[in-house]
Amino acid sequence: MSTDITMRAISQDVLGGPEVLKEVTVPRPSPRPNEVLVRVRAAGVNPTDWKHREMGGFLGEPPFVLGWDVSGVVEETGIGVAHFRPGDEVFGMLPYPFGHGSHAEYVIAPVRALAPKPAGIDHVRAGALPLVSLTAWQALVEHADLRAGQRVLVHAAAGGVGHVAVQIAKARDAHVIGTASAGKHDFLRGIGVDEPVDYRETDFAEAVKDVDVVLDTIGGDHALRSLRVLRPGGVVVSILPVGTDEFYEEAERLGVRAVRMLVDADHTGMQEIAALAASGALRATIAGTFPLADAAEAHRRGGTGRTTGKLVLLVD
Ligand SMILES: NC(=O)c1ccc[n+]([C@@H]2O[C@H](COP(=O)([O-])OP(=O)(O)OC[C@H]3O[C@@H](n4cnc5c(N)ncnc54)[C@H](OP(=O)(O)O)[C@@H]3O)[C@@H](O)[C@H]2O)c1
Repeated sequence: MSTDITMRAISQDVLGGPEVLKEVTVPRPSPRPNEVLVRVRAAGVNPTDWKHREMGGFLGEPPFVLGWDVSGVVEETGIGVAHFRPGDEVFGMLPYPFGHGSHAEYVIAPVRALAPKPAGIDHVRAGALPLVSLTAWQALVEHADLRAGQRVLVHAAAGGVGHVAVQIAKARDAHVIGTASAGKHDFLRGIGVDEPVDYRETDFAEAVKDVDVVLDTIGGDHALRSLRVLRPGGVVVSILPVGTDEFYEEAERLGVRAVRMLVDADHTGMQEIAALAASGALRATIAGTFPLADAAEAHRRGGTGRTTGKLVLLVD
């Protein structure tokens, strides 16, 4: 359903590098039952955005508008929406992977993808949090059942997922070991990492031991080698969801668990994240902000794989 009102969005006609992204004017959609139309104020940019831009991934051939993170203001509600009213500030992750489209002035969201934006958190930080925080929450809490006093190893602890995973783990009173290059170790300590490991100088599989939970953000052989640092009964949750069965076979042989997961939109998880953010326990580090029209630049920056924290698009 659409109206004759238009909006700006970042789209692409072909797969390729950041240069394929372009600003287009498209009809503004209308919310269906149990959906809301959100006026986007800020939207995080994630590796899945640049992977889909380049390779199509789950979405196949363009045209499409990327973006799963959103923070903004409810513009219009569909029939039956009781949680929100026009004017409410909300944030959330659109259903992954097929609910994309937040790199635009407006986006449609199922009502349960959203939570009220905590009043003390601005749109930039709120728009940075949802996808990475839900990923970390689902990995550490749902799949790994991380508990107080347990030892957790977070790979790429300075990255988007890693830096929120560290904070979620600390909020659960875990002991956190985090990998990053040496120049980022002060940052790691600042967000709560107890033991930073320089992955460029040290083989983590040799240096780290007796871990209850590993959050693997790298995949492949890295996920496999992470199994070796676990205590009996421990778990590696890998967020690189594709790979060989060797990961599961090796886990069975070692008496540990191996999980591969994709983040999933989740109302309850968003409420937990909103509560952590409101309490000050969870705060996004912003690596850079870009006007919507400069989405290609945000993709270029993110595509280096070296950012600390999150990149965010701002929509006026
Ligand atoms: N399954 C899912 O649902 C799901 C959800 C979210 C993300 N992901 C995937 O998870 C991965 C990470 O996402 P992200 O948002 O955290 O990425 P990101 O923000 O782009 O990660 C950047 C960080 O990775 C670090 N890094 C790179 N290689 C490393 C290595 N070998 N060891 C330790 N740190 C390393 C960099 O630190 P240095 O500069 O120190 O190298 C940098 O700080 C991506 O592949 C993404 O697609 C999957």
